[in-house]
Amino acid sequence: MEDDVKHDHVHTLCRIEDIPDGAARGFAPIDGRHRAIFAVRRGQRVFAYVNRCPHAGAELEYAQDQFLSADGRRIICFAHNAQFEVETGRCVAGPCLGQALEAVAVALVDGAITVPRDAGGQTDLFVGRT
Ligand code: FES
Repeated sequence: MEDDVKHDHVHTLCRIEDIPDGAARGFAPIDGRHRAIFAVRRGQRVFAYVNRCPHAGAELEYAQDQFLSADGRRIICFAHNAQFEVETGRCVAGPCLGQALEAVAVALVDGAITVPRDAGGQTDLFVGRT
């Protein structure tokens, strides 16, 4: 990925203008060793989460970059319709009510959206790998 700038401890997802205001975008697992993550833009704020539902572990979107309700106000898990607050990741309706998405720390650096390189943790496939 061209805009995939790498540093030791941070990973650049994209530039903020690459996500339309009010929309979301999914990203492949960083370095292929972690779970996928996604980000939601609200003006000049960006919220990012691991793409894994706390209910049954499904990835949330129903199609590429489709993480939000029709009105754009909630993150939706399309497997069983759980709804999450964009700002907190807290489930406010559905089978995982009261649980939350795993938040990813986001920093905006000169318009670039950056996250920790270890965002997403390791997948089960790599448990025990050194
Ligand atoms: S896996 Fe997300 S609501 Fe069931």
